[in-house]
Amino acid sequence: NASVDEDCDYLFKMVLIGDSAVGKTNLLSRFAKDEFYLDSKPTIGVEFAYRNTKVGDKTVKAQIWDTAGQERFRAITSSYYRGALGAMLVYDITRQGTFDNIKKWLHELREFGDRDMVIVLVGNKTDLVDLREVDVEDGQKLAQLENLCFMETSAKDNLNVEDVFLQMITKIY
Ligand code: GTP
Repeated sequence: NASVDEDCDYLFKMVLIGDSAVGKTNLLSRFAKDEFYLDSKPTIGVEFAYRNTKVGDKTVKAQIWDTAGQERFRAITSSYYRGALGAMLVYDITRQGTFDNIKKWLHELREFGDRDMVIVLVGNKTDLVDLREVDVEDGQKLAQLENLCFMETSAKDNLNVEDVFLQMITKIY
């Protein structure tokens, strides 16, 4: 399930998906570089980042792929999912529409992704308390129904970001 690299024991490919502007790129930059950008531009095509983490006495290199939420900027779907062991399905808790679209993203994931991929549902932007449109219970219920892991995050305040990636890496492992 994993290939070996020079400076790590395992290499895990993971992908980020979800509507435009839910915060995929910022979750990744927070995890990989501890950086956050208030006015980041939409992703065009595909970007990657890496980060090494320890699981027990092994070093796991996470290779995380980030693609555009906007249809017109998306890269070829099948190659994006190829070989991915995990997927993070992200919505924005302040926009109900991004949560409603999770069904669509799940459909794509199940069409192109590996059958035993680890999938985590992520409700991002919990720092925007007053703008919340999606209750935490809605996320929990959907995750239960679809058999996914679930966590709410804030890339801005650095809440649960480390946890959500590490949970995914540990589950894959
Ligand atoms: P696409 O590349 O178009 O698919 O978008 P994306 O999902 O990668 O979103 P991106 O990370 O570019 O973030 C979109 C906007 O949301 C930016 O203005 C970010 O600063 C903002 N944002 C991302 N995460 C958070 C968060 O946790 N809290 C707040 N308040 N804003 C966030």
